[in-house]
Amino acid sequence: MSAPAAIRIEALHRRFGDLVAVERLDLEIPAGQIFGLLGANGSGKTTTIRMLTGLLAPTSGRAWVAGIDVVAEPEAVRRRLGYMSQRFGLYDDLTVEENLRFYAGLYGLVGEPGRARVEELIAGLGFTERRRQLAGTLSGGWKQRLSLACATAHRPAVLFLDEPTAGVDPAARRHFWEVIRGLAAGGTTIVVTTHYMDEAERCERLAMLWRGRLVAVGTPAEIEQQLGAPTLEDAFIALQEKDEAA
Ligand SMILES: Nc1ncnc2c1ncn2[C@@H]1O[C@H](COP(=O)(O)OP(=O)(O)OP(=O)(O)O)[C@@H](O)[C@H]1O
Ligand SMILES: [Mg+2]
Repeated sequence: MSAPAAIRIEALHRRFGDLVAVERLDLEIPAGQIFGLLGANGSGKTTTIRMLTGLLAPTSGRAWVAGIDVVAEPEAVRRRLGYMSQRFGLYDDLTVEENLRFYAGLYGLVGEPGRARVEELIAGLGFTERRRQLAGTLSGGWKQRLSLACATAHRPAVLFLDEPTAGVDPAARRHFWEVIRGLAAGGTTIVVTTHYMDEAERCERLAMLWRGRLVAVGTPAEIEQQLGAPTLEDAFIALQEKDEAA
């Protein structure tokens, strides 16, 4: 018995002028899965995420997130998802607490439920001593932790993480993955892009993109097999060399 798909993508396509950034992508991601998008710079990872979050209209094709058509109902879909962008999206001149309150408010969590949720996030993620610190003065690891707290303030069904651990140290990355696994165990579907192979190995399934095209999909072991490479890293490098030769 397979769980219902949290994300369904059918022939999703996006062009920028002559450039095909995402080429007729088909994917299905079950609820509660940690799913990785892997690919070199410019392979279409962020463009895919932006279409799935309803921020960017596809040129053609369709996608459903948490059962909602992202093209027909981008606003409805945004209430069901969390998005942590490549640049964290924090307000540097607001405190930790103010950032959390701002994001909670954006997602409609106001009044007493909003206050309670912000307190829960502050305590749960270890921000008690830093709640009045300006976000701009936090270390990379704490910024990342705050950004994740903001993206999950409304308990989204699906969470999109675009290179969430770029520029943070190994201890912070480990903590981050523990939080992610906890969210997935609680039923949240996670879509994560990464350039780190150890992180790719932590995904239950992955899609490997090359120039906007899906070249392999499956567990890390299945990807290696599909691309005839002994490790994920070898598969990744082989595709990059193909790029350089092209
Ligand atoms: N708004 C845009 N206008 C024109 N071209 C764009 C736009 N957004 C993305 N592209 C192009 O689409 C392609 C895919 O970009 P995208 O940002 O999705 O790649 P990525 O896999 O996220 O790369 P990275 O690993 O560097 O973040 C690239 O060639 C990029 O230059
Ligand atoms: Mg990107």
